[in-house]
Amino acid sequence: MATNKWSIIFLIAIVAALATSVSAKVFIVGDHKGWTLNFDYQAWANGKKFVVGDKLVFQYAAGKHNVFRVNGTVFQQCMIPPAIEALTSGYDVITLATPGRKWYICGVGKHCELGGMKLFINVLPQSMPPVPSVSPPPSGKVFVVGDDKGWTLNFDYQAWATGKEFVVGDRLAFRYPMGKHNVFGVNGTSFQQCTIPSSNEARTSGYDVITLATPGRKWYICGVGKHCEMGMKLFINVVPQSAYAYPPPPYHRTRKLAPPKF
Ligand SMILES: *[C@@H]1O[C@H](CO)[C@@H](O)[C@H](O)[C@H]1NC(C)=O
Ligand SMILES: *[C@@H]1O[C@H](CO)[C@@H](O)[C@H](O)[C@H]1NC(C)=O
Repeated sequence: MATNKWSIIFLIAIVAALATSVSAKVFIVGDHKGWTLNFDYQAWANGKKFVVGDKLVFQYAAGKHNVFRVNGTVFQQCMIPPAIEALTSGYDVITLATPGRKWYICGVGKHCELGGMKLFINVLPQSMPPVPSVSPPPSGKVFVVGDDKGWTLNFDYQAWATGKEFVVGDRLAFRYPMGKHNVFGVNGTSFQQCTIPSSNEARTSGYDVITLATPGRKWYICGVGKHCEMGMKLFINVVPQSAYAYPPPPYHRTRKLAPPKF
């Protein structure tokens, strides 16, 4: 049962991871201005995160501009490559297929040199979001039974337990002067009737730490004299470890591809 739950949670985490890795963003270069003269494309690119798989869309009046993919040198010097290498549709979609620096210019007239029609971006590799850990935290809570009173006579352990949540992996610490008390883990019947088990089952160290290893009801009594009848008995319910909160998957924007505007 528990195993099943963890498998489902793990599956959900995997699906979420895959879903985020395939949802690529689409960037309309220059946003609603498109690919045009006198626009600061470096300012536009600033602060944007381009990741492998994302797309750039160069949107412009066909014939008025074009798009060349160039290297850094050509970009610097605004050298126009052979016209055959140009993208000219007016709605040129470029998938950012590899990480690294990418340069784009307009090869019409002096648009690159004088019109500022040049764009430089850095494309980051895809990073898988970290798969959330599904293993329980290594250390649970430690409850000192009776808090600063410890394990003693004339203390209401049911009142002490009320409102506390005991989870598998948590620990109970029974603290008492050694020899004065002891601790037995018993069943419900022995708890009710204060039946003292054989003394070799007793914990007697004066600081007995019990790890709550399984969910369900647990009963503890003191087996010294009539201490159990006098109230040295503790009943708790241990709940299974529940799903831990996951960070939400990274948020990915997906812009709708708008039809070219002229
Ligand atoms: C940049 O591209 C130009 C034109 O294609 C080419 O002649 C030049 O060698 C390239 N420079 C580098 C550093 O790749
Ligand atoms: C409870 O524990 C006592 C003593 O160990 C045992 O004799 C008895 O059968 C147990 N009762 C149940 C319901 O398990």
